[in-house]
Amino acid sequence: MKTYLHLELTHRAPLPAIFQNDDVRYPESLLEHFLQEYTRPGDVVLDPFAGYGTTLFVAERMGRIPLGVELNKAKVDYVRSRLSRPEAILHGDSRSLKELDLPEIDFSMTSPPYMNKDDPENPFSDYQAEDYAYSSYLRDIRSIYEQLGTRMKPQARVVLEVANLKRGGQVTTLAWDIGRVISEVLHFQGEIVVCWDKYGYGYDHSYCLVFSVE
Ligand SMILES: C[S@@+](CC[C@H](N)C(=O)[O-])C[C@H]1O[C@@H](n2cnc3c(N)ncnc32)[C@H](O)[C@@H]1O
Repeated sequence: MKTYLHLELTHRAPLPAIFQNDDVRYPESLLEHFLQEYTRPGDVVLDPFAGYGTTLFVAERMGRIPLGVELNKAKVDYVRSRLSRPEAILHGDSRSLKELDLPEIDFSMTSPPYMNKDDPENPFSDYQAEDYAYSSYLRDIRSIYEQLGTRMKPQARVVLEVANLKRGGQVTTLAWDIGRVISEVLHFQGEIVVCWDKYGYGYDHSYCLVFSVE
């Protein structure tokens, strides 16, 4: 597998008008690449931060069994309206993943909510200001992936699309930090650099961090 990709950050279907100022989706082409590489038809594919459902829609179209967890009810309702099996997305909190009734999972991919190191909002509760520290963010994402690891089949792969964040001359090394803390609970297999035509956060590339369970 190549360790870099060149992709366009475009989507095949626009979001409904109420969501258009918050289009944080990754493109279908990114999913297609990783589902081809790491899954087969009939595999269960989980996105623990399902957002607008890109992972679920592509998985369903490619004959995989989609499964998602999403905190925001409006997004859950939108995704449900477009899935042939609406129950494939759970309205829930991935910080309590162990308490959710999930089957054994063959593959997981997501882009988690991002955090700048000096921001007070908690990305895992829809960016509510609560004097939340970056160290707590890293602790929470480690815990989510520790729980997720217990639901994955042996040899399963887990992928996160993440970027470092450059703002006002400061860099939050989000991709490095997430890679480090998840490596404490899953096995890091390496990164794929994704070069985008346009991106954001002060960069035009991001990383797909690949982990395995055993
Ligand atoms: C970057 S978006 C994911 C986008 C998605 N991969 C797509 O392409 O449509 C991150 C999502 O995580 C959700 N989220 C944040 N905290 C969560 C939590 N504790 N449990 C589940 N979902 C959460 C947010 O509401 C947001 O929709």
